Amino acid sequence: MRVLSVASECAPLVKTGGLADVVGALPAALADFGVDMRVMLPGYRPVMHLLNDAHVIWQDPALFGGAARVLEGRAGGLDVLIVDAPHLFDRPGGPYLDEDWRDWPDNIDRFAALCRAAEAIAAGQWHDWQPEIVHCHDWQAGLLPYFLKQSHVPVPSVLTVHNIAFNGSTAADAVRRLGLDAADFHPDGYEFWGQVSTLKAGLVWADAITTVSPTYAKELTTPQFGLGLEGVIRAREGDLTGILNGIDTETWDPSRDAHVVQFDTAEGKRRATRALKEELGLPPGEGPLAVVVSRLSAQKGLDLLLEALPGFLDRGGMLALLGSGEPALEQGWRDAARQHPGVAVRIGYDEALAHRMMAGGEAVLVPSRFEPCGLTQLYGLRYGAVPVVARTGGLADTVIHANAAALATGVATGIVHDPGSVAALSGALETLADLYADRDGWTSIIRRAMSHPVGWDGSAERYAALYRSLSSSRTE
Ligand code: ADP
Ligand code: GLC
Repeated sequence: MRVLSVASECAPLVKTGGLADVVGALPAALADFGVDMRVMLPGYRPVMHLLNDAHVIWQDPALFGGAARVLEGRAGGLDVLIVDAPHLFDRPGGPYLDEDWRDWPDNIDRFAALCRAAEAIAAGQWHDWQPEIVHCHDWQAGLLPYFLKQSHVPVPSVLTVHNIAFNGSTAADAVRRLGLDAADFHPDGYEFWGQVSTLKAGLVWADAITTVSPTYAKELTTPQFGLGLEGVIRAREGDLTGILNGIDTETWDPSRDAHVVQFDTAEGKRRATRALKEELGLPPGEGPLAVVVSRLSAQKGLDLLLEALPGFLDRGGMLALLGSGEPALEQGWRDAARQHPGVAVRIGYDEALAHRMMAGGEAVLVPSRFEPCGLTQLYGLRYGAVPVVARTGGLADTVIHANAAALATGVATGIVHDPGSVAALSGALETLADLYADRDGWTSIIRRAMSHPVGWDGSAERYAALYRSLSSSRTE
């Protein structure tokens, strides 16, 4: 089964968040289920430098204002198809933002170009390898299902929603520029509040829709989480499934991780905790060392954590945060580190430190207001950093709350609290301090967390089954 996965980021080549981890992990996870997946990505400057054994499989002299080609090759251990279009992608800065953290003004066109190139490959223009399914990720690939229907390319498409908060909206004058059919500019088409939404185009025209956890799939049908797209989601509920993300258990393996003091038992973890405290200049301390590795945005609820922090520190807790994002939150956390000796803050993006935080952290905090899946609680489970998470989206699906019954029956893997509330988060941090004080009980929670399955097996099988059912319903 040949599947073309189309996305704006892919680890280890280019990453701003969990989307990259998932897109990068799927090909290996799916290979075990007979899927030959290639990843199609924009040829950003750093990606072009990592590309090996490349040869041209498609060209267009005028793709959104300049010459473009698709190169097939190897990069970061993956089989990739790269859209080499220097006028769109050969720039400094990140995939979506310039060096001053402003959106590139032509983002909609840049990713529409990615979709047009993918459409050509889906249509069979690379004779050696025509996909049987295309798998589109988020708004950046949202126009692809529409383009396929527009051009009558009979390849079924899957759209995965990683985060509906980003819906790829732009002014209506894009209709002509992007080559969309004006007759489809209406509420049952790609129109969204008088604008064009590329994500909505995907939601309407994809043959199947998935999202990254069963709970988020349910949440998406409500106004609170669907953010205006709940109507179209409800209309397509029969074609929507929640398939939980996994993590790459080889890259994230505490017993072999080259970035950390390695360990494979709850007892062994103590050395990694000591090493992290030393690295960050934290005191030895009596209470738990909690960690956060996150984008700093309203989604993640880290403003709530700033408010709940003093109570936790009073109980002897310590906190280490690695993150970057909104300037006001960066400042708030820098201030917290200055005020409290038990708080260490690193503003920036640092893959190796993220690993050491999971290895050394005794708890990982994820107090998100909403969270489609979340990956850091999964890294936490694997590394024995007990997750303390809000009951929303994939966080609710992956952590078993340590209530009395779960503790008595030995199934608890973390602490789950109501989302969006400082009081609830403070209560959860109290529970963390209480559980931590019972050393034997705490050690058994860590053991259980570390043995909780967080890999891709079950979910990869579900994706493979979905591809097969789409492909067979097409040929019937
Ligand atoms: P989201 O995709 O919404 O940001 P996820 O939990 O799904 O949230 O994924 C976040 C990913 O980005 C994880 O792999 C996490 O380790 C990583 N990450 C986030 N911030 C940083 C940072 N400052 N440094 C290193 N890795 C980070
Ligand atoms: C998005 C979501 C996050 C999810 C990730 C990968 O960035 O915010 O919850 O884990 O995509 O699917």
